[in-house]
Amino acid sequence: MSKPKILIARAIFPEVIARLEQYFEVESNQNDESWSRAQLMERLKDKDGVFTTGTDRIDGEVLAVAPRLKICANMAVGYNNFDIDAMTAAGVLGTNAPDVLTETTADFGFALLMATARRVTESEHYLRAGKWTRWSYDMFAGSDIHGATLGILGMGRIGQGIARRGAHGFGMKVIYHNRSRLEAGLEAECRASYVSKDELLKTSDHLVLVLPYSPASHHTIGAAELALMKPTATLINIARGGIVDDAALAAALRNKTIAAAGLDVFEGEPKVHPDLLTVPNVVLTPHIASATMPTRLAMASLAADNLIAFFTGKSPLTPLNP
Ligand code: DGY
Repeated sequence: MSKPKILIARAIFPEVIARLEQYFEVESNQNDESWSRAQLMERLKDKDGVFTTGTDRIDGEVLAVAPRLKICANMAVGYNNFDIDAMTAAGVLGTNAPDVLTETTADFGFALLMATARRVTESEHYLRAGKWTRWSYDMFAGSDIHGATLGILGMGRIGQGIARRGAHGFGMKVIYHNRSRLEAGLEAECRASYVSKDELLKTSDHLVLVLPYSPASHHTIGAAELALMKPTATLINIARGGIVDDAALAAALRNKTIAAAGLDVFEGEPKVHPDLLTVPNVVLTPHIASATMPTRLAMASLAADNLIAFFTGKSPLTPLNP
């Protein structure tokens, strides 16, 4: 019997491709440049499954040209690149890659928080530019992390990881807002208190965004929300770009409505809003929160496991629309 045909839309670990080749006829993108939408659609015409990353959009238009497609396995926990309703209507299963990246992503959220609060990159650029001539009492004075109030918007697994780091490691007071409140045991373990969104905005010294992106969370943080924050506050976004109105944020940073921001994700990435590139008080990183080799390998392996399970008659491990 012939093997099912799958497409791997982006370059991934050779060992994961080799494993998939044991089960499938594989076509893969070896160049690590995103295919255009038209190229992706052309290649999906005869495929039974696809291995995607967060940059590959699967929606009704794509599904219409891929009549054999049965499963899309995303190598990301976020799946806003999937139109889940269109996939369900077409009888196509989506899977994502949760859990395996939780701690690595929480580590990075904290790294970005610390770099932002303590002005690490801004001061490094100053030094490299040869501008450091003397010690001065207020040179690159930032804000404290220990003992400060850590706000978390979106209290899923990654949010909880950030809460634990803040509360247990840095003695921070942790507050959070989420669609639903955590059960008491988990709140106690994270040492986190539930507050309204307005209170979160008004009282956080460092506010970390970890909520999933959907049309409902589009521009959750815009000019009105930034205006509620403390002028000394920092805002960290490791969730998805569209959650923050980047133009409003750049204006708030320039006007010192808030003190600083750390952003790993951008609306329309890899393009970055030009206004963000010209304000000094923002740390910018290219969507690398889950980027350690062991974690990326675990994410790719989980996506591969989902494909293998599905086509060998087992239950996929992390289905989104079973
Ligand atoms: C995810 O898993 O959603 C990350 O953003 C991809 O690195």
